[in-house]
Amino acid sequence: MKIIKLDAIDSTNSFLKELSKNASLENYTIVLAKNQTAGRGQQNSLWFSEPFKNLTFSLFLKGLSLEISNQKYLSLAISLAIYEVLKSKKIPKITIKWPNDIMSGNSKICGILIENSIQKKHITSSIIGIGLNVNQEYFDESTKKASSLKNITGIEYHLDDLLTEIIHKIKEFEKVMISKKFELLEKNYVNVLFKKGKPTMFRDVKKQLFVGVICGISASGNILIETEEGAIKEFGIKEISFV
Ligand code: BTN
Repeated sequence: MKIIKLDAIDSTNSFLKELSKNASLENYTIVLAKNQTAGRGQQNSLWFSEPFKNLTFSLFLKGLSLEISNQKYLSLAISLAIYEVLKSKKIPKITIKWPNDIMSGNSKICGILIENSIQKKHITSSIIGIGLNVNQEYFDESTKKASSLKNITGIEYHLDDLLTEIIHKIKEFEKVMISKKFELLEKNYVNVLFKKGKPTMFRDVKKQLFVGVICGISASGNILIETEEGAIKEFGIKEISFV
């Protein structure tokens, strides 16, 4: 495992992507930024992280030989790995908010951005970007639903130790993926989904609010919601938001 520690960089995902274009990278090459100045989030959002207080890193994974039709399992495996590390640290009320935000109660504490390289229907390599809020104590208005491990438990965490634990757990889940135990992954993921089985308010693309109950995910990784009328509807990431 090779770790590249940078004092400052715009985005570890972007840096690792460029690096992978120009060099043949070892599996599990990690780029970690002490200060990430323009972190990227899902759906073109930005990821803010106070310098030196949190984990912002990207991991290069290859050799999974995952078909594109199974790509959701990578996202499930990575979120479950982080979920399990945080569970083992007794962080309360940990859930995974579809598709892969890690929550403690109603606060987001970790975001994941996975960028895959694809050739002939297979994922050849992936860049797994992880932003985990660890020791940051103050969050501004735009991130008011965010929190950190320290804010939740009062404990100051050692960043390097946490990173080691996360990578270790990802390696365990990599084995599950390689042995194609997809049903196990899905069962475990759905079990710990945020708001699963609870009537929840959503907003659809037409900005209509509706109440539904999360009941699982589809073959392609979309969310399945049972509406008040009893129909099960499928939504993609751009088609629905939690209110
Ligand atoms: C999200 O929830 O929107 C995903 C956030 C992912 C943030 C991490 S921080 C390290 C890596 N580098 C980036 O630019 N983004 C990811």
